[in-house]
Order: sequence, then C-alpha cells, then structure tokens
Amino acid sequence: MRVLITGGAGFIGSHLAESLVAEGKHVTVVDDFSTGSRDNVASLANSPLFELVEGDILNIPELEYLVSRSDLVFHLAAAVGVELVVHDPVKTISVNVHGTERILTGAGRRKTRVVIASTSEVYGKSEKESFSEKDDLLIGPPSHSRWSYASSKLLDEFLAMAYFRSLKLPVTVVRLFNTVGPRQIGRYGMVLPRFVTKALKNEPIEVYGDGEQSRCFCHVLDTVRALKGLSEESRTRGRVFNIGSTEQISINGLAERVIARTGSSSTIRHIPYEEAYEPGFEDMRHRLPNICEIRNMIDWEPNYTLDQIIDSTALHMRTKQ
Ligand SMILES: NC(=O)c1ccc[n+]([C@@H]2O[C@H](COP(=O)([O-])OP(=O)(O)OC[C@H]3O[C@@H](n4cnc5c(N)ncnc54)[C@H](O)[C@@H]3O)[C@@H](O)[C@H]2O)c1
Repeated sequence: MRVLITGGAGFIGSHLAESLVAEGKHVTVVDDFSTGSRDNVASLANSPLFELVEGDILNIPELEYLVSRSDLVFHLAAAVGVELVVHDPVKTISVNVHGTERILTGAGRRKTRVVIASTSEVYGKSEKESFSEKDDLLIGPPSHSRWSYASSKLLDEFLAMAYFRSLKLPVTVVRLFNTVGPRQIGRYGMVLPRFVTKALKNEPIEVYGDGEQSRCFCHVLDTVRALKGLSEESRTRGRVFNIGSTEQISINGLAERVIARTGSSSTIRHIPYEEAYEPGFEDMRHRLPNICEIRNMIDWEPNYTLDQIIDSTALHMRTKQ
C-alpha cells in the first residue's frame, strides 16, 4: 500500500509516517519545511519504504502524479499556529484553500482515498459545553485575522464534502482538537511546548488572557491511531469526525501542572491577548470535543493522560537540548 502524507515532516505527520512505515506501508512525504523539518523524519531516512519530496503543495509540479499513484492521502500540510496565522493571513488562506483544492483535484482522477485535516477552530466562538460535528458554527469577523485559519479550514471541509457528493470521492474530514506531544514546537504559539520550554529553563511561563480558558490535550500517538482507524473504515467517507481528548484543564492549571511535573521554579505571568497577538484578539473560553461519532464508528478513545503527555514532551525536549 502506498500512502502520501502532505505536511508529513511536521509534528503530527512525522508520527503518522513512522507508524505507517512500521506497518510495512510505502510512505511518501511532501513538505516545504516551513514549520516542519527533516529532523522530524530522520528516523525514516534510510528506510526503503520512505520517500521525502521537498516542495510547496501550491506549486510542486509532481503533486498530481504523487497523489494519483497513491492508495491513500493524508492531507496535513497547512499554515498552522495562531501566531503564524495572525501574522501571515494571506499565506494561511492561500496554502489552506488552494493546497487542499490541488489535493482533491488530483485525487478525483482515480478516486483516491483522502483524509483531510481540519481543526476545532471551525467551532469558532460557539459557547456550547461540548462541540459536535453537526453543530452550527460561529466564526468571528474578517477584521480579525485569527479567523482566517478557521474559515480557510472550513472551506476545505465544504470542498471535501462537495467532491464527495459530486465526484463520489472517498474523502473523510477530521477536526483535530489540541494535539500535543514530542516534536511539537512552541515557536508558532502552541501552548504546551511553549510552557515546557520555559519550565525547563526555570523562566516565567506566559499565560495569555486570564488563564481561565480551558482546553483538552490529546497525545499525538492517540491522534495517529484515530487517523489510521478512520482511513481504514469505509463508512467514514463523506463524513466529519472530531478527534480530541475530553480531559479539560484551564490554561492556568496547565501551567501549574507543567511546573509541578518538571520540578521547575518558573513563575506564571499573565499577558493580555492584545499584547500576545493583535488588538481585538478573540479567544474561546472552552473547547471540549464530543467524541461519540468516532467512538461509535471505530471504538476510539484517547489513552494517554495529561501527566503522561507533559512527561513525554519534557523528556523529548530534555534529550534534544
Ligand atoms: N497540532 C494541533 O493541535 C492541530 C489542531 C488542529 C488542526 N491541526 C491540523 O493538523 C495538521 C498538521 O498540523 P501539525 O500540528 O502537525 O503542524 P505542523 O506545522 O508541524 O505541520 C504542518 C506541516 O505542513 C508543512 N507545510 C506547510 N505549508 C506547506 C506547503 N505549502 N507545502 C508543503 N508543506 C507545507 C509544514 O512544513 C509542516 O511540516 C494541519 O493541517 C493542522 O491545521 C493540528
């Protein structure tokens, strides 16, 4: 079996690539290393089952060929991270929308199986206690760049469903909630690696806003198991699935837990959103996935606890230092 992973040198993609190669699948990764790196897939470099193609999905000429010779495509390449999105909204929209369109067009020729990575950001400012796939979505206005990420990913979802309906393309959309673990970098605003990096240096941990906003953190290996499971199940075609943990913690609580698990002497400093991102920046208070759909479909639940996640992230960072 031949699998293509766009963005496969990134955080989630590299773990997915390792897992698929370990199962004996041929894996090709396309990545422009904008937020990913060669290091992330270094363990696969000498495998005869692995191929790395450097290029931008927006203009790499062989993309159509790479898609059409594959049995399965995981489309993960995207402009990712709130800081990156806020500071480069044009690139965000372009990569996330046109990149996905290129993948779907290529896949349409041979009806290649595709899994598209979307995001919990599409739930926007909804104040529901937990988010389900069929909920209405409440996105903020275009005057705030932050919403360009959610909107571009939402358009990807509509495109995917349109290809499913019109061309019978076997495509599944996954809405990933906060996914964390080894190899994730804090440079683009990802909260856990940012906190762990500071804790390991005993430097102040910066919490944006009042810190009472809550999130759920899913270990990347649990996410990889979900991605593979959904791709193998034919009944997931033409559908959208949440993937995430249901263990909620406030960001203040996360900072405290990181300090405790790493034995750090870091203090916690609160920074207003406007200072961290842009004037008028809007954040969601809570983001809890309802995971009934994926549980019922492939019997998936996350296995890793938050403490295990923090420990594995800290261990990875310590060994890299
Ligand atoms: N990590 C999370 O918490 C999370 C949450 C929601 C959604 N997602 C989605 O999951 C996917 C993977 O995210 P990740 O966390 O692994 O981030 P990541 O930044 O590590 O991975 C994205 C990869 O795509 C590559 N890329 C970006 N633009 C590209 C382009 N034009 N051409 C080729 N490659 C390109 C990057 O270099 C990187 O390797 C993304 O689609 C993201 O939107 C992630």
